Formats: sequence, C-alpha cells, structure tokens
Amino acid sequence: MEDILLSKENLYWRNKAREIAEDVVRPAAAEYDRKQEYPTPIKEALREAGLFKVWIPEEYGGAGGETPVLNLCLIVEELSRACGGVGVGFAVNALGSFPIILAGTPEQKERYLPDIAEGKRLIAFCLSERLAGSDAASMKALAVEDGDHYVLRGEKKWTTNGGVADIYTMFAVTDPESRSRRISAFVVEKDMEGFSIGKVEDKMGIRCIPVVETIFDGVRVPRENLLGGKPGYGFKHAMMTLDHARPGVAAQALGLAQGALEYALHWVCRRHAFGGPLSAQGQIQGRLADMQTKVSAARYLVYASARNIDRKARNINFLAAQAKLFATNTAMEVTTEAVQLFGGYGFMRDYPVEKYMRDAKITQIYEGTNEIQRLVIARNLIKSAAHYDFLEPYCPMPWLDEEAEEAHN
Ligand code: CAA
Repeated sequence: MEDILLSKENLYWRNKAREIAEDVVRPAAAEYDRKQEYPTPIKEALREAGLFKVWIPEEYGGAGGETPVLNLCLIVEELSRACGGVGVGFAVNALGSFPIILAGTPEQKERYLPDIAEGKRLIAFCLSERLAGSDAASMKALAVEDGDHYVLRGEKKWTTNGGVADIYTMFAVTDPESRSRRISAFVVEKDMEGFSIGKVEDKMGIRCIPVVETIFDGVRVPRENLLGGKPGYGFKHAMMTLDHARPGVAAQALGLAQGALEYALHWVCRRHAFGGPLSAQGQIQGRLADMQTKVSAARYLVYASARNIDRKARNINFLAAQAKLFATNTAMEVTTEAVQLFGGYGFMRDYPVEKYMRDAKITQIYEGTNEIQRLVIARNLIKSAAHYDFLEPYCPMPWLDEEAEEAHN
C-alpha cells in the first residue's frame, strides 16, 4: 500500500534494510534486550550494506540520491519493525552528524563525514543536561576560549550511543551574557583528554543501545572543531538538527507500531477461543482496523515530513513535529493494544510484544517530548493566522479596535 509514495531508490534502501532486519536483527532482538548489550554484529551488517552512507552528501562519501531523509526513515522503520533499539542506535548517527552536514565548515565535513558514511566511526549528540531537557537553551556546560583552543566543562545527560560512539557533537555556553548568541557547538573526539562516560542508564526500553552521561572535564578542543567556525550559533544549529532528525524518531515509532500490529495479527488469526479464531470476533476486528488506520496515517505523515526536508521546504519543523507527535502516540497506542490482544501472554517476556511497548515509550519523550512538538506545531499555526484575513467578512469582530485601544491605554 505504501509503495504508491515510494520511488525505486526508496524501495532499494527499504528492501536492503528489510533483509538485514529479518536475517540478523529479529532473531537476536530479545537476547540483546535481555543482556542490555550493544549489538556489534548488527552494526557490522549495517555497515557492510552501506546503510550509514544514506543521509551523508555524496561529495563526502555518502550515497547521494534524491531523497536522503526519506531513505533514512525507511531504513529506521524497517530496523525498528524488528527491534526499536537497533532502529534508534542507527538513527542517532544521523542526529549526531546533521550539525556537521548543516553547519560544518568544508574542512569539518571532510574530516568527519567520510568515516561516518563508511560506518568506521559512530557519532552521538550531546545537548540535554540534568536540568536542561526541554528547555535546551538553559544548559550550563561551558566552553571557555584559551588561545587556539576551547576548554569544555560540564555534564550531558541521555547521550544515546555514548561510549560506543567515537565522535560527539556537543553544545556549550560560550557567551553567558548573550541571549541569542549564548551557545556554540563543538565536535569532540572520544580520546580527547577530559572526556569520559559517567552513569550508564538502566532503561525500560531500547535496552540494547547505551544511554549515558557524558562528562567534559576540561576537554581542550582545538578551535577548528568549533562547528561552522563561528561562536554563538549553537542553539540555532541544534534546532535545525532536531528538525531534520525528528522524522527519524517518527519512523522508529512507525516501525514499532507496524511490527506490533503484525505480531497481533499473527496471533489473533491463530489463537482460538469461544469456538473460533479471535479474529472472527467483531470486537477484535474493530481494534485491528483502528490499529491499521493509525499506522497508515502515521506512515503518510512520516514520509511526507521526510520528503518535505528532502525538497528543502521552509518551515520543515511544522510537519516534522506533527509526524513525531502522531507516529509516537500511534506507537504507544498500537503496541499497548497488541499486548492486550495477546492477553496474559502479551505481558510475558516469552512473547515479543511487551518489548515493542517498552521500546515505544521513549519515542514520546526523546528528541523533543510530545509536549514540545505541540508547542512547535501551535507556534507555527498561530503565526499562520495572519493569512486568515480573508475570513474577516464572514466573521466580523468590530470590537477589535476598541480592545486594542484599551490595551494601549
Ligand atoms: N530552526 C532554526 N532556528 C530556530 C528554530 C528552528 N527550528 N527554532 C528556534 N530557532 C531560533 C529562533 O529563531 C531564535 O533565534 P534568535 O535568538 O536569533 O531570534 C532562537 O532559536 C531561540 O528560539 P525560541 O525563542 O523559539 O527558543 P525557546 O527557548 O523558546 O525554545 C524549543 C524552543 C522549541 C522549546 C526548543 O528549546 C526545543 O526544541 N526544545 C526541545 C529540545 C530537545 O528536543 N531535546 C532533545 C535532545 S536529543 C535527545 O533526546 C537525546 C538523544 O540522543 C536521542
């Protein structure tokens, strides 16, 4: 059904990812989840298949093509359909490298992107702090100029792939007095002195992928690692990055919802009760239909938001936030329904659906909580209200001038 939206190029990447998902990811997913262990052989399979090239520009060793962000989303969807952890463990490399792609100097791109495209080096993203999550601008990590270096000091929270990544895009305050040019971004390498990994989180879901605290204790970063070569643009670069990366989280959620729906369908068509398969019952059919409809709606939003980025549209955040909000809520609803349809078996670790539900929860939280997505959507909507003057004759508000005058007085 979804093929009506996909080109040959898209199908090529989707099929490549689907093959790896079925051959390597699905059979190992439960075990890596149980052991909370990073799936190195799966990462190797993704690397050998050239999947890390997909979002990197061709001139820096990437795959090129018309629709890199949609291709990325299709891969993340397929991987997540088999394991949500593997999906995010892959996608977070795009989150980490988008700052370099969008804002790096040609030298920074040349230095880092080819290795990322080859899958030789993994990259992570360090924005959130213990007391600065949704309000990212309130971060405290500091970067102080010292000759031809910056010295980074602070702790970052929730660094996905921290410890297995070789490179970290890190955001820190360079001008505490400034409101709009307070923050800058840096590229930090794992063996720079003063960089270390703190607490490794014990998580509800995406358990095969490490989420850690990253510690910057006087890390001396050469000036050439200041992203874009100019201080003060870090917050903007973080926002641009998140706009590009959020369809990827939405795709992870979409894959989880699709995967859970498939297991639920498999189950209700085979499990018998009251003299026939569960799927013969009207109640069950209605729920399956609702699950599928939500998954389809999420799919169209995810693909549209990715295409919107690929065609370099303006205001990409509007659709990206809607895709993230809707797809991640869909993942939570559909995976929870799948557990319910499995009955008591659904609650048990012997069966795969409880993992989908656990993996889905974080998609409503990371890369901008869904409350933040609503804020982004509403701000865009309110801005667009200026275009609705044509409704004025049908909706007269003669008291507006009076109100404005009163407010002025
Ligand atoms: N693109 C470019 N610039 C943008 C922008 C965008 N989408 N959004 C805002 N800006 C710019 C504004 O133009 C403004 O610039 P000027 O000062 O030059 O005018 C500046 O940024 C400040 O903008 P706002 O006043 O809108 O900022 P705000 O403080 O109100 O915050 C926010 C906006 C949308 C709430 C933002 O803070 C946000 O997105 N928060 C969520 C952070 C987030 O998603 N964190 C997750 C991190 S990743 C993760 O989860 C871990 C992982 O590894 C998976």
